[in-house]
Amino acid sequence: MSGTVLVTGGAGYIGAHACKALARAGYQPVAYDNLSRGHREFVRWGPLVEGDIADRALAAEALARHRPVAVMHFAAYIAAGESVSDPALYFRNNVIGSLTLFEALLHAGGPPLVFSSSAAVYGFPDTMPIVETAMQHPVNPYGETKRMVERALHWLDQAHGLRHVALRYFNAAGADPEREIGEAHEPESHLIPLVLDAIAGRRSGVDIYGTDYSTPDGTAIRDYIHVQDLAEAHVRALDYLLAGGASAALNLGTGVGHSVREVINVAARVTGRNVPYREAPRRAGDPPILVADSSRAQSVLRWRPALPALETMVASAWHWQERLAGP
Ligand SMILES: NC(=O)c1ccc[n+]([C@@H]2O[C@H](COP(=O)([O-])OP(=O)(O)OC[C@H]3O[C@@H](n4cnc5c(N)ncnc54)[C@H](O)[C@@H]3O)[C@@H](O)[C@H]2O)c1
Repeated sequence: MSGTVLVTGGAGYIGAHACKALARAGYQPVAYDNLSRGHREFVRWGPLVEGDIADRALAAEALARHRPVAVMHFAAYIAAGESVSDPALYFRNNVIGSLTLFEALLHAGGPPLVFSSSAAVYGFPDTMPIVETAMQHPVNPYGETKRMVERALHWLDQAHGLRHVALRYFNAAGADPEREIGEAHEPESHLIPLVLDAIAGRRSGVDIYGTDYSTPDGTAIRDYIHVQDLAEAHVRALDYLLAGGASAALNLGTGVGHSVREVINVAARVTGRNVPYREAPRRAGDPPILVADSSRAQSVLRWRPALPALETMVASAWHWQERLAGP
C-alpha cells in the first residue's frame, strides 16, 4: 500500500516507531505533534507539522496540504497517576483535543483512523485474560478519556461513516533494534525504563508497589508487548481499513503476563548488573493482573507478535538507553 498517513503524536515513543514501520511498508508518514512530550529528533521518516490537535485551523491546513489516505492518532497525555492529580488536563487534551481533530477529519472527507486506546479502559476486569467485550470500568481519568474517545468514535462512525480501529494496547516496551528511537517519557512512569535507569544509576532505585497481591510472587502482573509489534499492528490496521474493513476495537498484547519481580530479574540477567529496588505499599487503582486475549486482533489483522519474549524487550530497551553512554 502507499499514500500519506498523518500521525498525531508522531514525535512520541510509539508514534515514532509507527512512522518508521509506515515508511518501511511504503507509506509516507507526516508527524503532527506539539512536542509537549515528544522529541523533535524522533521525527526521521517524514516532515513534522508542529502544532496541537486542538488547533482546528492548523489541523485543517495540514489535512488540506498533505491529503492523507488515513490518520494514526497517538497524541495524548499518558500518565495514569498524573491524570488522577490533574483530571482536567487529561480531559482537555485527550478528549477535547481528539474531538477537535475528528471534526477537522470529517470536514476533510473523513479518512479512516487508527486510534491508540489502552487496556486502561477495563479498570479491574472481571475475567482474565481480558477479551474486548469485558466490562469497562476505568479506574483513573486517563482510562476514562480513552473510553470516551472510543465512544465518540463509535457515534461518529454511526453518524458520518468515520471508520476506525481502536487498538487497546497493554504495556508497550522495548525499542527500535537500530536504536534510532526508544522510550523517553518525561515524567517516566513505566516499569522497564525505570528499572534500567536504576541499574544505570540515573535514579537511586525502583519501587515495587505491592508485594502482597494474590500472584505467585506477590507482585503485580502485566502483559508487555514490544513496540515494534505494536507498530506493525498499526500498519496492519491501516491496511485493513484501506481495504474497506469495518470499525473494530482490538486488544494488543502477547497473552503472557510477567510480574514486577520477573521484570527486575530479567533486567538483572540481561544487563549483568544489580537492580536497586525498594518494596512499597500497593498503589490505589493498580489491578493485580492485566493480561490480554489478543485473538481477535490476530484474526482480524492477521497479526501476531514477532518479538514476544520479555528478554528481547528489555535487551532492546537497554541497548537504546546505552546509547546515552556512548556509541
Ligand atoms: N506507552 C504505553 O505503554 C501505552 C499503552 C497504552 C496506550 N498508549 C497510548 O499510546 C499513545 C502513545 O503513547 P506513547 O507512549 O508514545 O506516549 P508519548 O508521550 O511518548 O507520545 C505522545 C505524543 O503526543 C504528543 N502530544 C500530546 N498531546 C498533544 C496535543 N494536544 N497535540 C499534539 N501532540 C500532542 C506528545 O508531544 C508526544 O510526542 C498514547 O495515546 C497513549 O495513551 C500507550
